Amino acid sequence: MAILKIARMGNPVLLRRAEDVPHPTAPEIAALVADMIETMDDARGRGLAAPQVHVSKRVMVFRPPTDDGDDPEADEDGVLALVNPEVEYLSNEVVDGWEGCLSVPGMRGMVPRFTRIRYRGITPAGRPIDRTVDGFHARVFQHEFDHLDGILYPQRMTDLSLLMFDTEVAKFMEEYGADEDEIAEAEAAD
Ligand code: NI
Repeated sequence: MAILKIARMGNPVLLRRAEDVPHPTAPEIAALVADMIETMDDARGRGLAAPQVHVSKRVMVFRPPTDDGDDPEADEDGVLALVNPEVEYLSNEVVDGWEGCLSVPGMRGMVPRFTRIRYRGITPAGRPIDRTVDGFHARVFQHEFDHLDGILYPQRMTDLSLLMFDTEVAKFMEEYGADEDEIAEAEAAD
């Protein structure tokens, strides 16, 4: 396993549609996923997409957020890896939330995301995934999935005055009456 170099905003690999993976269970995909998980954890991210490590393939890893304990589809370390994922937006409703991205280091932004989605994909072990999720889980998926289509979260923002350095988020939110939990959540968003 290895910690990979993370591409940062402006790198062309982050701006193009990643390629479908013809053989999701190929050993090189399993090796890529293992390296991506190590890289994500080293950088303290919640998710990572292959283009972020300079590999233009439709592969993503993330830790599905849960309210209570373990995610049923994640592995024993709480990570779900998906190859060739697909998404369907089940609601026109969007909700704003703070996001950060390992490819946009040191920043946070308020991003509108669909509240409810269905996603499908296959794990590197060949297990099909098909689930309907909402809330923060839906947000994390949409963020990582966007990377596969060459989209970074600032491109989804509707109010760029809410794009800021992470060191300013707490001050900003205090000004608007946010409580400690809300501030901690915003600061943790990567
Ligand atoms: Ni990201």
